[in-house]
Amino acid sequence: MIEESRNSDVKVFEDRFKLAEAAADEFAEVAERACFDVLELAVALAGGSTPSLFYSALARRKINWGRVHFYWGDERCVPPDNPESNFRSASRDLLDKIDIPGDNIHRIRGEDDPEREALRYGKEIAGNLAKGGRVFPEFDWIFLGLGSDGHTASLFPGGTLFPSDASLCAVASHPGTGQKRITFTLPLINHARRISFLVTGKEKAVVVSSILGRKEGSRDYPAAWINPVQGTTDWFLDRDSAGLSLE
Ligand code: 6PG
Repeated sequence: MIEESRNSDVKVFEDRFKLAEAAADEFAEVAERACFDVLELAVALAGGSTPSLFYSALARRKINWGRVHFYWGDERCVPPDNPESNFRSASRDLLDKIDIPGDNIHRIRGEDDPEREALRYGKEIAGNLAKGGRVFPEFDWIFLGLGSDGHTASLFPGGTLFPSDASLCAVASHPGTGQKRITFTLPLINHARRISFLVTGKEKAVVVSSILGRKEGSRDYPAAWINPVQGTTDWFLDRDSAGLSLE
């Protein structure tokens, strides 16, 4: 690691390969500890291309996967075998390579009606994670990517960040392609115990610097609203994406 920021929640790595290995090491440590402290670890995976190396590195770790439950923070409304599917990417890089019970994999059914599936997935999450009558279920760890326009999961600029009700999942449309997505809502994300951004590439440097530096206009970025109620947020960056933040 090149540098840990003053408040150790920003870790900068030489390149995306070292970032992926470090994140996988950290996950393995947490999963090992969790196996003694809690029954299960509820983890929401990020979509997009950035996490691919991290998922491949995870597949090489010795982890008791029987205690880990995977969800997705968002999914494209496509069938699970579509190249666009976040589930398909995670299966290729991780799930097909590890010994994890099928019941531990909670995919978003991208092939179904978006509104109905957003409701169904929210109910699945609530049923599994809303302990003690909590309104908002608490994920142990949510991984997020970051778009160069400041979106995260499928919370896009100009979209709804605060639903009028306590919905856990919502339907969004990609502003460029119009592609329908199902996404965690901001309140659901912000009730996680830990949120980790995985961000690489020069094209993300401006938005990373704006959000971390709380610069003017950063609040236009949905990712700037990630602010856990009781949990923590950390950033795994490579030198390219952190470039403007280290100056
Ligand atoms: C998705 C993701 C999305 C992604 C960012 C970054 O389904 O696409 O949830 O939020 O994390 O767009 O994508 P890249 O990692 O491909 O740059």
